[in-house]
Amino acid sequence: MCGIVGYTGREAAAPIVLDGLSKLEYRGYDSAGVAVFNEATNEIDIVKTKGRLKNLLEKTDSGKAMPGGCGIGHTRWATHGAPSEKNAHPHCSDDKMVVMVHNGIIENYQELRDHLTQKGYTFYSETDTEVAVKLIAYYYEKTDHNPLESMSRALLRVRGSFALGIMFKDRPGVVYAARKDSPLIVGQNEGGAFIASDVPAILSYTRNVYYLDNMEMAELHEDSIKFYNMNGDEIEKEMVSIKWDAEAAEKGGFEHFMMKEIHEQPKALKDTINTYIKDGKIDLSSVGISPEEFAQYHRICIVACGSAYHVGIAAKYVMEDLTGLMVDVDFASEFRYRNPKLSKDTLVIIISQSGETADSLAALRLTKEMGVKTLAIVNVVGSSIAREADYVMYTLAGPEIAVATTKAYSTQLICMYILSMYAAQVRGEIEESALDHMLQEIVLLPEKVASILTDKERIQWFANKFASAHDVFFIGRGLDYAICQEGSLKMKEVSYIHSEAYAAGELKHGTISLIEDGTLVIGVLTQSHLCEKTLSNMQEVKSRGAYLMGVAENGSYYLEDMVDFVVYVPKTDPHFTTTLAIIPLQLMGYYVSVARGLDVDKPRNLAKSVTVE
Ligand code: F6R
Repeated sequence: MCGIVGYTGREAAAPIVLDGLSKLEYRGYDSAGVAVFNEATNEIDIVKTKGRLKNLLEKTDSGKAMPGGCGIGHTRWATHGAPSEKNAHPHCSDDKMVVMVHNGIIENYQELRDHLTQKGYTFYSETDTEVAVKLIAYYYEKTDHNPLESMSRALLRVRGSFALGIMFKDRPGVVYAARKDSPLIVGQNEGGAFIASDVPAILSYTRNVYYLDNMEMAELHEDSIKFYNMNGDEIEKEMVSIKWDAEAAEKGGFEHFMMKEIHEQPKALKDTINTYIKDGKIDLSSVGISPEEFAQYHRICIVACGSAYHVGIAAKYVMEDLTGLMVDVDFASEFRYRNPKLSKDTLVIIISQSGETADSLAALRLTKEMGVKTLAIVNVVGSSIAREADYVMYTLAGPEIAVATTKAYSTQLICMYILSMYAAQVRGEIEESALDHMLQEIVLLPEKVASILTDKERIQWFANKFASAHDVFFIGRGLDYAICQEGSLKMKEVSYIHSEAYAAGELKHGTISLIEDGTLVIGVLTQSHLCEKTLSNMQEVKSRGAYLMGVAENGSYYLEDMVDFVVYVPKTDPHFTTTLAIIPLQLMGYYVSVARGLDVDKPRNLAKSVTVE
């Protein structure tokens, strides 16, 4: 939700800020803006546009029209106030003394706005950010122009979340930052200092970053960075060196990030498997949870949002089948408000690519408050969820830029398979030979995924035929139903075609009335003991006019007589089929979106990292 970037240093700030924003556009793209300190006039110039960043690039001649070495910028995903130039950031006090970009939500903004209105302030936008910047400006006057004190006094009155980049007109060359519950990193190279919502924004300038923690502030000068707590005391922070390759955040010859990331899955799976399976044995030493501790849990709660939640659904089938554990799966947004009953023999597993999803983070904190242990499966190193969980199991997907997740989802599945096998092992619920067999199978998954990708043109051809479909239904039973849920989400989020996933046996309890001549129904059949049943349900929709696509394991030739188009995937252990069957469904969503001429990597209304609830 919203991306922020700031720079102060020897170079021109605007081009660096705009370049950083281009790497963060996945976080929001309904308006953008940049502010730069103009040394000729001693004013802070602000330029904003509605729509994509390219409009801002045009308006500022790629930043060249805004000279100056100190600036902040923002790309927005609207929360308070419609997408418009007026509501775009940076926002400022009326005299432009204080200028600010913000990611997050100020929950008590109405109360603060009323308070400031009584003091004579007026407002030009509908945003919570304008209220926050004017509150800081109010304290800036009161404290005789003390930046850190005015920030802390204002921010202690704010409820909600914020990552802020701030400039004060009478502090040329200095960028201030503060954070609570929204991500913010601070970077440094020989020529200057940076702030950003996420690492890719500044990776081509520096690998040396600091992670700002909750209720911390930073003061950035060209050649020095200082950190403070909200009392204004200076604090020490550890510099972290980022290992990612800057190229990993570029498209690398693919037309879209989503396609690139679909193709990165074999490597991402392999890297994740090799981290947790060594010499044919599960090795969770990097996670830090001991076998004895794992064995003592009787219940697992998986809590996540969106695709990560779908990983949880698949994991429930796998873990319950392999172990005697009770496994619940919950949407984080429901879990946190439902007064969940958790006991000390429960392990709560939070799954999150970004590690910043507001509901997942809140669910984690609630769990910890209840004295219950948490294990997080996270992709972004140093993210809030990773830092706050008791145990962290990192997915090694690398940076995921496309808004629709593919490789992070697949690596999350791998982690859950490994945790399921580990649970069965430490609880003595799996024969050694059966475990060995599964471990041999899991390491084969990367090359099996690669083999499915070699046949993608067939899927492209079929997807083109259905580019103008109104509805698509995905049906399956057991694990195949879990696959359907993710396949359906991929389809609807990138192609804007209405789609639904149904447990195949449920369809006739109402939804079947939506099937008409030519409706595409995609049946997933990887669970041999359930295939016949799902096939009967596919027959039921076919006789009502549906056009059938099947996704099944190699050798399931019985489908050919009934189904109009079949995609075969390699055979594997039945617990791991999600990893293979999801690939054609990711490709379907991608190709339908491309055929419809849509923005695959940045679907409308979405943002990559959902840091608001
Ligand atoms: C869909 C998608 C989202 C995320 C969800 C959770 O393609 O990417 O549904 O899975 O927003 O995000 P994280 O995993 O960052 O917590």
